[in-house]
Formats: sequence, C-alpha cells, structure tokens
Amino acid sequence: MDYKSIKTNTVHDKTDIYLVGVFTDKKLSHLGKSITKTSLALVKKCFDKNNFTGEIGDHRTFDDNVSNIQIVFFGLGQKQKYNPLNLYRSIKGIIDKIRKTNAKNISINIDNIISKTKNITLELLVSHIEDSFYKYSFKTEKQVSKISSCNMVSKEILEKNTFTTCIKNGKAIANGIKFAKDLGNTPPNICNPTFLSKEALKLKKINKKLKVTILNESTMKSMGMGSLLSVSQGSKQPAKLVAIEYMPIKNKEPIVLVGKGITFDTGGISLKPSPNMDEMKFDMSGAGSVLGTMRAIAEMNIKKNVVGVIACAENMPGSQATRPGDVVTSMSGLTIEILNTDAEGRLVLCDALTYSRKYKPKYMLDMATLTGACLVGLGKYPSGLFSNDDSLAELIKVSANKTGDRVWQLPLYEDYFEELKTNFADIQNIGGRYGGAITAAAFLAKFTNGIKWAHLDIAGTAWEVGKNKGSTGRPVSLLIDFVLSN
Ligand code: BES
Ligand code: MN
Ligand code: ZN
Repeated sequence: MDYKSIKTNTVHDKTDIYLVGVFTDKKLSHLGKSITKTSLALVKKCFDKNNFTGEIGDHRTFDDNVSNIQIVFFGLGQKQKYNPLNLYRSIKGIIDKIRKTNAKNISINIDNIISKTKNITLELLVSHIEDSFYKYSFKTEKQVSKISSCNMVSKEILEKNTFTTCIKNGKAIANGIKFAKDLGNTPPNICNPTFLSKEALKLKKINKKLKVTILNESTMKSMGMGSLLSVSQGSKQPAKLVAIEYMPIKNKEPIVLVGKGITFDTGGISLKPSPNMDEMKFDMSGAGSVLGTMRAIAEMNIKKNVVGVIACAENMPGSQATRPGDVVTSMSGLTIEILNTDAEGRLVLCDALTYSRKYKPKYMLDMATLTGACLVGLGKYPSGLFSNDDSLAELIKVSANKTGDRVWQLPLYEDYFEELKTNFADIQNIGGRYGGAITAAAFLAKFTNGIKWAHLDIAGTAWEVGKNKGSTGRPVSLLIDFVLSN
C-alpha cells in the first residue's frame, strides 16, 4: 500500500472511500471542509434516525453528491476506553467490509484516531491497516483487494521525514506479522524444520547485518542436545536449531528470543486424539513469532542487539520414537525422564535456552505454544506470562498494553518445582494433574539460572479457530515493541 499525507480540506475527488472513525459521542468536529454543511447536517440526522451507535463494528455509508465522495463512518467505541486493541478491532472490521469493493484508493481521517495519551501512533495505525488486508490460501481463485493506496487525512500535512519513517516502520511491523502468519498457515507437509531454516536464511536478503547459523542433528549431538534430539528421532524430518544474530552494536549483550518450532505435533507415542489434530501445524508459532520479529527488526535496521533462536523438530510416533520412560541428557547436563512424549515443547526449548546462554543475554524471552492447560486457564485472549524476574515481567506488560497484544502473568512458586521430581532422573518432563501451564514453565525455568528470563505461552493466542481459522501472528507486535523499548 502507498501512503500519502493530505489535508482534511482537500480530500474531495482524491479518493474512492473516505473512512471516518467516530466514537460513541458521535462528534464530527474534525471533518473541516471535507464535507459540505448540508451533508454534515444530513449525516447527523441520519446517525440519530438510523441509530448509528459508534460502537466498534458499527458503520454507515454516505454518498456525498456535492463533494463527490463516499464517506464511511465507522465506530471506534467509547472514547474513554479507546486503546490500541480497540483501534485494531475497528480498523480490521471496517477493512473487512470494504476490501472486496472496486475502490482503488481509500482515505482515512487520522485526527481523531491518533492519540499520544492512548499510545496510538501513526506507525501502529499503518501496521493495523496493512495487517487487515492479510489473506492466506491455496485456493485457486485469488482474493486480492484492489485497494492499493491510502491517504492519511489530517488538518495539516505531516512533516515529511516523520511521516516517511512512520510509514516505513508501520510496514516493517506488518511485514513481520505477515511473515509469522504465513509460516504458521503453511501446511505441515511443506513447513518442516528444514523449510523453517531456509526461511531464516532468506532473511539475510533484507539486511546484510544478519548472521544465520543452522545446526544440523550431528552438530547438535556433538553439543549434547539429547533432549531436543529425542523429539525428532521418530520423524523422517531432521531437527534444526537456527540462530539469527542481529548485532549492530559491538560488545553489548543482546536480547535473545527463543521460539518453539514443532512443525507438527502428533504427540509422538503419547499420541494425540484425532479431532482437530491439524491445528498442530501451528505448533511452530513460537518460532514463527521469532522469525517475524527478526524480519521487522532487519527491515527497520534498528540499533539494538537481538538474537533469535528457533528449535525446530517434528514430533512423530514411529519405531525410532522416544518411549514414555526414556531418560535423556540435556545440553545443560540435567537428565530428564520423558513420561509423556506429548510434552515435547519443553524438551526442545530447554536445549535452545541452554544454547542461548552463550550470548550472555540481557534478557531471554521464549515463545511457545506450550500447553493446552494455558488455554484452559486463561482462554484465548491473553498469552500466559511467566518470569524469574519481576521487573522484566513489568516491561513485557508495558509492551503488551502499548500494542494490544495482551499477556497475563502466572506465578512460579517453589511448590510447582516439587512436581517435577522423579526417582529416575534429575527431572521429569510433566507435572501433576493441575496447573499444567505453570509446571511446564517451571521446567523451562530450570534451564535459565542467572539469566533474566520470561516465557510466553501462546497456546491460546497464536492461532484462531472456526471461520477465521489461521495464524494471528501474535506475539510479534509485542516483541517488536519490547525490543525497541528495552
Ligand atoms: N503443542 C501442545 C500444546 C497445545 C495443545 C497447544 C492444544 C494448543 C492447543 C503441547 O506440545 C502439548 O501437547 N502439551 C501437552 C502437555 C501435557 C502432555 C503435559 C498438553 O497441553 O496436553
Ligand atoms: Mn505436544
Ligand atoms: Zn507441542
């Protein structure tokens, strides 16, 4: 999409559709001369008559014969409750309505939308607009929208450099989200560990500062990653551990982002039930979010050191597969009794976390579709947040609030660690009957000694089910904001 900054009073004839967001107070004071007085009066009358509420999801279209444009008023909800998430809902909702029209150009009034106090920037708006046009499918009939340019309408033309930077960054964020969504949506016969490693390599085209290292199974074996390798041993597809280093600053500790990259999770010998098993193609979404974030960072060419590490494997049953009861030795030296082969995410992540220590991370964040229990406990709206450092947890909450990519923190009391004890190894890979999201996080915490670490369980947030089934690209926007702010 191409963007231009134009003045409110010049919007006539320049556009096919003029989008105007309206709060529930229905005030239209920001429209200036972009609408004739007569029309404005008509609109106001019509709002009342036709019961336009200004709630998110509500919209009304007017053909203004005098100014010769089609104005679409869409609800922004209550002004007091206005936040980044509500903006996203409004924008996504209205773009879904207009994406299939014949319009080529749209305009959007930003004076009432951008709000410093509510953390709503032009950059965020651009990323939402771009993201709202996303579609993925192997359908033979393509569903591309004709809309290819967008005017940002405001009282004054925006300063050129600021405008260009905002558009550029907004697009970079959206491209990162798109990348994560595409990877998640790609079918599991295509998106396997090797595919993910090749996608990581391709990122070098965006920014030459990226250094991509791909570890194959024999290298991982020599490094002692017995835990990670136990997950892929039942599959024909070899595991890959990929490190993407973006270090523009010399001698500075990076933020390390670690992602669970199970390209398909059958459960292994602890086989999952058949219904909805296809959704386990999304079990690489943690890795997808890391790749998406690295893409955005590379595109924005930011001055921060960031490393992405993705642990990729396919969890399959087979004659070579891990058995419940097997004991393996992780790279950290800790021995693990595998009681359930379906608790495989933690097995690949623990070795990836240990590997990441070599970067001496300032912060280490891991993202994983780790437990069904997280979905049961928190539902599908926030990602589960766990941390061994309260100040780090707070920083993540700040980014979550700024982006609308919500999180909810759960405790990591000492008691949970007790549940990982076994007679046969240093730890076992499952906890007791309750609090499964927390015992999984506690397992990971065992591999993070001395590092400020946080874990996001994105089992409920990484993809949607039902008629909008598909990857959400979460928590890419949160991660980009976190990296930029810390
Ligand atoms: N990838 C799953 C978690 C999952 C399940 C995410 C459903 C989203 C929807 C993970 O590998 C898994 O199977 N976890 C087990 C852990 C259990 C065996 C301790 C689970 O949640 O059942
Ligand atoms: Mn599993
Ligand atoms: Zn899994």
